[in-house]
Amino acid sequence: MIIRSYAYAGLLLPLVTFSHSVSAKTPGRYDAIHSGTPWIDQRGLPVSAHGGGITKDGDTYYLFGEAHRDMTNAFAGFNCYSSKDLANWRFESVALPVQQSGALGPNTVGERPKVMRSPTTGKFVMFMHADAIDYRGQFVGYATAMNITGPYAFQGPLLFNGKPIAKWDMGAFQDEDGTGYVLLHGGDIYRLADDYRSVREHINKAMAHGFESPAMFRKGKTYYFLGSNLTGWERNDNYYFTATSLNGPWTRQGTIAPEGTLTWNSQTTFVLPIADGKKTTYMFMGDRWSYPRQASAATYVWQPLIVTGTKITMPVYRDAWRLDAATGAAKPGPAISETIVATDKRVRFAGTWRQEAAIEPAHHVTDESSSSFSVTFTGTQASLISVARPDGGYAYITLRDRLGKEMISSTVDMYSKYPVSGIKFVTPLLARGTYTISASVVGDGWYWRNKKGERSGSAGHAITFERAEVRR
Ligand code: DGJ
Repeated sequence: MIIRSYAYAGLLLPLVTFSHSVSAKTPGRYDAIHSGTPWIDQRGLPVSAHGGGITKDGDTYYLFGEAHRDMTNAFAGFNCYSSKDLANWRFESVALPVQQSGALGPNTVGERPKVMRSPTTGKFVMFMHADAIDYRGQFVGYATAMNITGPYAFQGPLLFNGKPIAKWDMGAFQDEDGTGYVLLHGGDIYRLADDYRSVREHINKAMAHGFESPAMFRKGKTYYFLGSNLTGWERNDNYYFTATSLNGPWTRQGTIAPEGTLTWNSQTTFVLPIADGKKTTYMFMGDRWSYPRQASAATYVWQPLIVTGTKITMPVYRDAWRLDAATGAAKPGPAISETIVATDKRVRFAGTWRQEAAIEPAHHVTDESSSSFSVTFTGTQASLISVARPDGGYAYITLRDRLGKEMISSTVDMYSKYPVSGIKFVTPLLARGTYTISASVVGDGWYWRNKKGERSGSAGHAITFERAEVRR
C-alpha cells in the first residue's frame, strides 16, 4: 500500500517522506484494532511484521515481525514498530537486517522473531527460525541488542548441549519469575539460561505432530499452549493444550475459534496479555497469510480471547474492537452511521458483474479482468465489506478525495477456503469529506506449492462487493 498524500482530520501531510516527526504530531490514524485489513504506519506504508510478537517496555508496545517482499519468500529482515494503543503503529527500525552472507543472508528464510529482555543481563534477545530457502536447513537462532529497537546482532544458532536446535516454527515465552523459554513446533519446550543466550534444559518433549506456530500465555496457575496444524500458508483450525506445569502433563483442549472458521482465517503467532486497566485482556495475534503477496496483501487477525478456567475461545470475529481504558476490557469498535448497499446509486459497477445467488450473504462478484466498482461516501471513515470465497483473488483498491486525487492504494485478498463476509479495507480516520473507494480485479489469487508440489490456495481470482459502512 502506498499513501500519496493524506488528510488527517484536516492536516494535509506529505506522508511519502520518511519524517519521523510527522507521527508525533499526528492524531491517531485508527481508533480501533482492525483485523483482516491493511494497516498503515506513520510513513504511509503497510505494517509488515508477520509471524511476530509484542514486547512491552515501559508504556510502549514493540511489535517485531517478518518484513516481507512480494513474489519471494526470501528473508527481508525483521521489522520493529512501536505503539501506545495497539491500533496505531510507528515504524522504528529494521531491527535485524538481511545478513551479508550465510544464515539469514540473501536467499534464505527467517521467520517468527520474538524478543524478550533477560532480567539478569538487561539485554534484549531476539529468537527466530532461520532456514534455507527450501526449508531444509532450519535451526533456532538468536540475536542480541542493548536497545529494544536494535540494532540486533545475529549470534547464530541457539545451542543446547553445544548443538543447534534443528527445528522450524518457534515461539518464546517469559514466565512470571523471568525465566525464558523457547517453544518449538510439535510442542517441545526449552528452558533458557539466565542470559537467554543458550538452552539449559529440554523440559517438554513434542506431543503433537505439526503443532506449528507455537505460542504461550499464562493466567493464574494455568499455562495455555496454542498452535496450528501443518498446512503451509493455508489456514486451519488452530488448537491448544493446557497444563499447570511447563513440564506437563499437557491436556489437549479444543480449537481456539469455532471449528470450520480456520481460526477466523489465521495462524497463531503470539498471545499478548494486556494488563493496562483493572482487567487483563488476552489478545490473540494471528497472521492471515497471502502468499506470494505477503508484503502487500497479508493481514493480521488480532482478537480478544475469552479465557475461563482451561477454556479459551474467540466465539465471534470482531472486524474492529477497542480496549476500554478504564477497565482494560475489550469493547466493540466504533458505531457505524450508514450502510451503502449494492443497489445504492453511490455504488458503480463497471464491466461484467453477477449477483451471487448460491452463496450467502448476497453479493456481487466478477472475475473479468477489466471489471471494477467504486463507492462514494461522505464521512470520516469507511469500510469495504466483501465476501471472501474459495475462488477469490486480489483486488486493487484506491481511495481518492473528491477531486479524484489518489490518497491510498492497496492490494487486498478476497480468498477464503469457505465463503465469509468481512471488512477487507478500512480507511484511516479522515477529515470529514467526500471520498471514493474503488476496487478492480488484479487477475490472480493466493496459492502455494508445498515440498511435495501440492497446490493450495484460491481456485480463481474473483473479487466481490457486499456493502460499505460509513462513519459520519
Ligand atoms: C507454516 C509456518 O507456520 C510458517 O511460519 C511458514 O514457515 C510456512 N509454514 C511456510 O510454508
